[in-house]
Amino acid sequence: MKKEDFIERRKKLFEKMNDNELVILLSREESELYLRFNQDKNLFYMTGLETPKTVLVMFKKGEIETTFAFIERNVPERVVWYGEKMKKSEATEISGIETIYFYDELNAVLHYYLSVAENVYVNYETSEPFASKSNALVYINELRNNYPNLKFKQFNKIISSLRSVKDDSEIEELQKAIDITGAGIERIMKDSKPGMYEYQLESMLYDTMLSNGYREWGFTPIIAQGKNAATLHYSANNTLIEENKLVLLDVGASSSNYSADISRTFPVTGKFTERQKDVYSAVLFVQKTIINMVKPGISMKELNEETAKLISKELIKLGLITDEKDYKKYYMHSVSHHLGLDTHDLGSRTSVLEVGNVITVEPGIYIPEEEIGVRIEDDVLVTEAGHTVLSESIPKEIEDLENLASGK
Ligand code: GLY
Ligand code: MN
Ligand code: MN
Repeated sequence: MKKEDFIERRKKLFEKMNDNELVILLSREESELYLRFNQDKNLFYMTGLETPKTVLVMFKKGEIETTFAFIERNVPERVVWYGEKMKKSEATEISGIETIYFYDELNAVLHYYLSVAENVYVNYETSEPFASKSNALVYINELRNNYPNLKFKQFNKIISSLRSVKDDSEIEELQKAIDITGAGIERIMKDSKPGMYEYQLESMLYDTMLSNGYREWGFTPIIAQGKNAATLHYSANNTLIEENKLVLLDVGASSSNYSADISRTFPVTGKFTERQKDVYSAVLFVQKTIINMVKPGISMKELNEETAKLISKELIKLGLITDEKDYKKYYMHSVSHHLGLDTHDLGSRTSVLEVGNVITVEPGIYIPEEEIGVRIEDDVLVTEAGHTVLSESIPKEIEDLENLASGK
């Protein structure tokens, strides 16, 4: 990601802002000593800065658009503990922002803007879990008290339509995250055996990521054998894998904060049973049909409705339900969400698709009483011509899965 990308994003945001509107984006809380710092996604999107005590300010007044940022001042006696802080010139080089202040100057510099602005967009919601512990939230509440005429708005509301249309750099990072995730998935399919614990499969993917310089997960991985796969948010990953079971992987590495989100389900022993094959084929058929519908102008609501229709028919064929209306017993989530900096990225789940959206397509069938859960999930870019499946190269055909898993 280069500074021109951030400059372009700020330019597009200014186009959406009204006169006398202010944006203040605060960084995430500094991590505990033993956790790596993880930047607020909106602040990263607008600046590329990955440091704590960092703030972006943008203000629009008439023709004048003002942008500046704050970073932490270097404290010489702390250098031996935490290293040098980023220099102003480095912050400018990363973000393309010319005017950089120090964080301890925040209140003095902001006072004028807070006094003249009518609306301010901020990136923290009072309803956030653990909100009371967040310094950022305490600060925003102070601003609310000190500037009672100022109207506070959620930054997500104004940035959502920009973040859901990906630029070339974002697609490049998503592709890298998807490719490394795919490499790890293939390794799992080849090397996993009954008698291993689910977390041993997790370690194969994590090792593939780390060995190639990808150090972060996009989200907590799901490695679920047998009946665990029928628990949608299973993440314990600590069960012994039994013979002849299906294993569901729902995993995604992150590349420069962009998350992949891929699900594959495969027979750990190298051969589907007839029943497993029937269920798998049903999900694969639905998934391919829905992917083929993806194009500009179609709504995610339509994709969901078609998925429900198709799955209902498949469930009847599988002898699981007799009335189409009962499909929710075996398929209970939606088929798509936007993907990007957040795994469940900004962008409505009912939005009409446009060129540059990246969404998942992830139908599933979950039958706990048969210890079977199948989900197949690909990451799909919406293009002029329709779509490109960014995760196309990760195997999902029955024959390929059996060959990989049986070592052929
Ligand atoms: N891994 C979360 C999801 O598939 O939506
Ligand atoms: Mn997923
Ligand atoms: Mn997903």
